[in-house]
Amino acid sequence: MDFIYFSKKPFGWAEQMLVEKIRELGYTADVYDWDEVEITDSSFMYQGKEMKLPTVAMFISRVRTRHIQGDRLYLFDWLELLETKGVRILNRPKAVRSSSNKVYAANILKSAGIRVPETRLVTSMDQIEAALKEWKDIILKPLAGNASVDLTRLILDERRYGDEETEVLSIFQETPIWNMLQKHPVICAQQYVQNPGHDIRINVVAGKVVSISANDALPNTWRKKDINEGKLLRKYELTKELESIALKAVEVLGLDYAPIDLVEGEDGPVVIEVNSAISIWPGHETMGITIDSEGSVKYYVNMIIENINKYSTQSV
Ligand SMILES: Nc1ncnc2c1ncn2[C@@H]1O[C@H](COP(=O)(O)OP(=O)(O)O)[C@@H](O)[C@H]1O
Ligand SMILES: [Mg+2]
Repeated sequence: MDFIYFSKKPFGWAEQMLVEKIRELGYTADVYDWDEVEITDSSFMYQGKEMKLPTVAMFISRVRTRHIQGDRLYLFDWLELLETKGVRILNRPKAVRSSSNKVYAANILKSAGIRVPETRLVTSMDQIEAALKEWKDIILKPLAGNASVDLTRLILDERRYGDEETEVLSIFQETPIWNMLQKHPVICAQQYVQNPGHDIRINVVAGKVVSISANDALPNTWRKKDINEGKLLRKYELTKELESIALKAVEVLGLDYAPIDLVEGEDGPVVIEVNSAISIWPGHETMGITIDSEGSVKYYVNMIIENINKYSTQSV
């Protein structure tokens, strides 16, 4: 097998479409349900049957996110086991693990000279209060993000109707945070980067920016994404500065491709997050946000084919 895209049911548009394109070019490719894969030291099984290892593999974000924290460590062990057997995984498991830890990634990016928010780990109410006092306006988020679930903003001295005077956190602020700490014993705290009300999303593939869009805040909130309300996307111009930040961020994290979230801070673009799984859908290809008017799919296809050609000859 030349290429396997590991997915979870229900399979999505991106993995099915990419597999189809790779097949059209004469290669063998398939989408496998990760839940039906078994990897041991001597075998690779799918749906109970012994299979040949693929030369190249990819996996969708749900393979990573549908695990609780400790469990996820084992997931990375399985993926690295595949790598030690010679499978080229795009993105490499180590790079995915580092990028999806927001505190670790912020450190790597900052060391490379890329602007990121002030970031630290917090594990207690006291540490959260200290961060809020110091930074005045903060974001708390799970170490590894997932569709902005549990992402919370706290503003110092923000009083709402019915709030009582308290030392740092108001009663209304303390309640969701207490609950968050029960669910996430280790949290990523960041200074909120003041911005004009839109995110910038850039997709990089194999050293090239393939799409850029702006994502406006939803009505009556600073949030730009809501699992129920969706997103407000529009075209956005790629500047040289944005391009060089995006390419460098992907390079220093050791990724092959990445969707990157930035905001425009007062001193320039700030990288909020470097995602490590593909994020394209039919509208992404047709709404005019891709750099190439033909869309971005061919760049993913080329990256996969180049790796198949490179690694299949190596293993013979
Ligand atoms: N430090 C920050 N300053 C300003 N906005 C932020 C900050 N952190 C997160 N956000 C906003 O919240 C969104 C989601 O945060 P992100 O870290 O990308 O998490 P997720 O994994 O949920 O995508 C960002 O795209 C941005 O709009
Ligand atoms: Mg994000």
